[in-house]
Amino acid sequence: LGSVVLSTLVGYLSGSCLAAPWICRWAGVADPRSRGSCNPGFSNMLRLYGIRLALMTLVLDAAKGVPAVLSLKLLGGPVWAQGIAGAAVLLGHSYPVWHRFRGGKSVASAFGVLLVLAPAVALGSAALWSLLAWRLKTAAMASLASAMAAPLLCLWWTPRYIVVVGGFSLLIVARHWLNIRRMGRGTEPSLRRQRPGR
Ligand code: G3P
Repeated sequence: LGSVVLSTLVGYLSGSCLAAPWICRWAGVADPRSRGSCNPGFSNMLRLYGIRLALMTLVLDAAKGVPAVLSLKLLGGPVWAQGIAGAAVLLGHSYPVWHRFRGGKSVASAFGVLLVLAPAVALGSAALWSLLAWRLKTAAMASLASAMAAPLLCLWWTPRYIVVVGGFSLLIVARHWLNIRRMGRGTEPSLRRQRPGR
């Protein structure tokens, strides 16, 4: 039980570290939480600052959840415990203690956690995300579709994680409610890079 509590705590605290604001401070550019979609994640970074800073955000946000979940998996922790530690990472990113509980949408952090728990599901969802984002040029649509597809992929490849993955998907869909509203109004921005100054 000690290792479950510890990994959950480490998962939440590391999930609470948002990569985007730190990368922007390092690069000397404005915080993405005050520009574009105001989301501190890969897509907003891509629109605002291009692929280099966006990829750095993606890699760090995905990597931060790995230690907590991987240690529990290596210790032979049960699936429910791995799921709780993974959920803590996602909740940390969405409601970060270091950033007044105002975080992102947990798509990249879910990808990192899933790479450890169910790698085939993570890669399948990422492939679907990339395809849809490329075709539709709308990040949120790609994220919502991949989040909904993940439990189905899980049913196929790693059914023992279905409840865990379903829980992650619910959180991700809920965190996109503003995007869903914007899509309904037809005002969701495209994934193309914005002109500087906008
Ligand atoms: O990964 C987040 C993405 O689905 C939506 O981000 O910036 O378009 O609101 P954004």
